[in-house]
Amino acid sequence: MRTPLIAGNWKMNKTVEQARALVAEMLPGLQAVPSVERVLCPPFTALMPISAMLVGTEIGLGAQNMHWEAQGAFTGEISPGMVKEFCQYVILGHSERRTYFGETDQTVNKKVHAALANQLIPIVCVGETLEENEAGRTAEVVARQVCDGLKDVSKDQAAKLVIAYEPVWAIGTGRAASGEVANRVLAEIIRPALAGLFDTPTAQKIRILYGGSVTAANAQEFFGQPEIDGALVGGASLKPAEFVNIAIAAA
Ligand code: G3H
Repeated sequence: MRTPLIAGNWKMNKTVEQARALVAEMLPGLQAVPSVERVLCPPFTALMPISAMLVGTEIGLGAQNMHWEAQGAFTGEISPGMVKEFCQYVILGHSERRTYFGETDQTVNKKVHAALANQLIPIVCVGETLEENEAGRTAEVVARQVCDGLKDVSKDQAAKLVIAYEPVWAIGTGRAASGEVANRVLAEIIRPALAGLFDTPTAQKIRILYGGSVTAANAQEFFGQPEIDGALVGGASLKPAEFVNIAIAAA
């Protein structure tokens, strides 16, 4: 049995003061859903203050990105060790990082190795663009992202990984995939790719989330699917009641 996981990706939103207010509002509701692994991923600047608010709770904290090197002349970057000071999770290879900041399967792979070496749980994002989807290339693109992004990861480490399937056309558009379509990508593309990389028992242990316009209203459609183990939530994670209701739907 895989424990359901709900992660809120705040993206580039919220000052420290706003972040504190948002967490204060959602914390009681989130704490009332202990059977779901709950993770907040605020911007870097809010990680330290929010980690202080989460002490004594079982709510996890994640960064939205990091560099793979331990230290050095990489202006503007954050190292795994710096993330680890506050976080247990790190989102890697989000489509916005791939599209706007030139991330590739190869840089994602370096980050995955760095995260695992630092005992951080990577939430590795994969997903096809609208153009790729319409050209019938979903299987090829998603399988490549999984295989190249997780290259040379050991079986033992793999079981800790989390994958987020986020079709790019569904992100922030209000046009979510249907639960059935998303489940099919997980069942027919992602889990078989994981089984090929590792083995079937390991693939069965890896949590796979859906992301892309998840709301409290459509959450159940995803969580009712056998392969979908939770959600990576963007816009709706900035609305306290909405995010709590998504966590409740995953319980
Ligand atoms: O990381 C989260 C995804 O990009 C989904 O964003 O829920 O705003 O569509 P969204």
